Amino acid sequence: MIRVSLVLSSSSSSRIFVGQETLLSGRSSNTRRSARESGSARGAVSRRDIRGLPPFTFTVTMSVRSFLITGANQGLGVHTVHQLASTPDVLVFMGSRKLAAAEDATSKFASDIHPSSAVVPVQLDITDKESIKNAHDFISGYLQEKNLTGLDVLVNNAAIMVPSFEASYAVNVLGTVAITEAIRPLLNDGGAILNISSKVASMWLWSQTKWRERPIYPAYSSSKCALNSLTLQWAFQEDQKGSGIRVVSICPGYNATNMNNYAGTMDPADGCKVIVQTALDKDGKSGVFFDRNGEIQW
Ligand SMILES: NC(=O)c1ccc[n+]([C@@H]2O[C@H](COP(=O)([O-])OP(=O)(O)OC[C@H]3O[C@@H](n4cnc5c(N)ncnc54)[C@H](OP(=O)(O)O)[C@@H]3O)[C@@H](O)[C@H]2O)c1
Repeated sequence: MIRVSLVLSSSSSSRIFVGQETLLSGRSSNTRRSARESGSARGAVSRRDIRGLPPFTFTVTMSVRSFLITGANQGLGVHTVHQLASTPDVLVFMGSRKLAAAEDATSKFASDIHPSSAVVPVQLDITDKESIKNAHDFISGYLQEKNLTGLDVLVNNAAIMVPSFEASYAVNVLGTVAITEAIRPLLNDGGAILNISSKVASMWLWSQTKWRERPIYPAYSSSKCALNSLTLQWAFQEDQKGSGIRVVSICPGYNATNMNNYAGTMDPADGCKVIVQTALDKDGKSGVFFDRNGEIQW
């Protein structure tokens, strides 16, 4: 968290910035479309785009914290963005493979966004190097534009659950590594990296006989197990650097989302609460794995 003088480039009624064009939500879809078409195929943004906003209409001084959530256009990700943005003084970068999906999702909770907060959709496919670079450059430019020193929290939420090991590891492990390595230089000391994991990654739980009756997802479970291993490695690394950056693995519980064909028993609006609370917390343990009920054995 830092103390900043934040110049909001928005009219007072509009706090959703449209993707990497950072236009105002109140502008016409044609205006948005032409801005999108004028960018690269992947929606890259330049500082010119940011500066190309309508005149600043007000200046405020506030204590702003910034967040990037990957895979945030649906499921637990979108609820995390919604609930974070409902709190004061937050800037939430909403990662989405398709900008339009993030914009559609955001329009459904626009009226809940706190007057001092903002949501900024960002095109981001964590398996695509160019998309990652564009997202990094965009976020970096945006933070600079707002006189923010960096990003406070990265939520590694994007994932897939499919039988293929190759596809699972490409997103859940290698994609998460790629985005984390790209974004890490932007993270403020004292910030956090939240890896959204799952209890099915717990080797301890699988070693319990009663767990053997559960359906098994070897590619997904083992990819999340690798993610948990990264949580520990990164936590130790940050500890050695003395950055104060916490790295944790969080299980949100079994939620009804696209990932499980909406078979989950929890509402993702509840399941995301442990993610939201941990993201908002300014301190806490690092190198731990937990759900809403407390720590889980690795
Ligand atoms: N649901 C559960 O019961 C449950 C339980 C434990 C853990 N989790 C974890 O919670 C997190 C969120 O899952 P969810 O249930 O909300 O799933 P979801 O509704 O299927 O959402 C997954 C999100 O990840 C995005 N994504 C997939 N591949 C991507 C890529 N290459 N680059 C960027 N984004 C990508 C998807 O984008 P598209 O919309 O473009 O596909 C979507 O936005 C995951 O890490 C999951 O493993 C979920």
